[in-house]
Amino acid sequence: MLLLNPGPVTLTDRVRRSLLQPDLCHRESEFFDLQDEARSRLLGTYGLSDKQWTSVLLTASGTAAVESMLAALVPANGRLLIIENGVYGERMAQICAQYGISHERLIGEWMLAPDWTAVAARMDAAKATRPYTHVAIVHHETTTGRLNDLAALCALCRSRGIGVLADCVSSFGAEAIDFSDPALHAVAATANKCLHGVPGAAFVITRRAALESATARTFYLDLTRLARLQDQRNTPFTPSVQAYYALVEALREYEEQGGRAVRYAHYAALAEQARAGLARLGMAAVLPPKESSVVLRAYHLPKGVAYPALHDSLKADGFVIYAGQGGLSTSLFRISTMGAMGASDIERLLTCFERFLR
Ligand SMILES: Cc1ncc(COP(=O)(O)O)c(C=O)c1O
Repeated sequence: MLLLNPGPVTLTDRVRRSLLQPDLCHRESEFFDLQDEARSRLLGTYGLSDKQWTSVLLTASGTAAVESMLAALVPANGRLLIIENGVYGERMAQICAQYGISHERLIGEWMLAPDWTAVAARMDAAKATRPYTHVAIVHHETTTGRLNDLAALCALCRSRGIGVLADCVSSFGAEAIDFSDPALHAVAATANKCLHGVPGAAFVITRRAALESATARTFYLDLTRLARLQDQRNTPFTPSVQAYYALVEALREYEEQGGRAVRYAHYAALAEQARAGLARLGMAAVLPPKESSVVLRAYHLPKGVAYPALHDSLKADGFVIYAGQGGLSTSLFRISTMGAMGASDIERLLTCFERFLR
């Protein structure tokens, strides 16, 4: 079965085999070597120095990494503006509401890019009363496949002294992220999307300086304690050793294949192949390529076709595609090109689509 859903991804044999390595006690040096390698390779994906940045591992899914980041890095007296244009932006607001983090939402149309003029106006209007200390955004809003312009947001925040916290769960490892921008304080991500690991390991990459004003709103997900103990070759709780095995193997493979630029180019080629093929069959992409990620694209369901019938037919052919979320479930479907797949897989997928539509 080939997974075309946005994670977990189809594994390479090498990563799958890595799950069968020896059992490890998480209080022994072998585990801390594994943890150290995962942390340093994660920084290496974007060439980050461990003097300025730290990568903090969590045994959890991507949402927990986002939650850990927000719960720690918006200080007790901080104020957050959340830019929303999809399900995952909404989720950040739910997390902040749950923790009682002082926040406001700038809710945009799900099919549109954020209105940067409105974002700037909102930040400036808040200056007179209670300025925002941080802004949160979803880099790749997986709801629609839109790549939100993180660089544009950082540019607005840089001149205003506002820190950016980004959900990069479905972009980290493939899309460009400019970590040199001082406005970017932290990103949250996961092992089982663009990095091709297995579910169960997630991480936050944060500036060390941002941790200095962090607060502890949560026990298990406390980013500051996790960072401190991991720096000391320690861990507060029992980690998913096997998920870390797979993450490290996936990161070794990633680097040997050429790193982010190569992964980006690979995804871009597959995404374009799928887009062009589906367009030929009468299924238009929801967003133009220049507004989309290379990781996942959303497509209009053909007239008269119900998603479950399309899904079940493709599943019988060996492909798992993904429905639209929430109100979009009856109007679109999504195809992700993450994981172990190549051009011949997309070719076969298109043949199966064609047969279904006949
Ligand atoms: C942008 C984004 N954020 C957060 C998540 C949540 O990740 P998880 O399901 O691993 O908790 C996802 C999952 O697809 C995502 O795409």
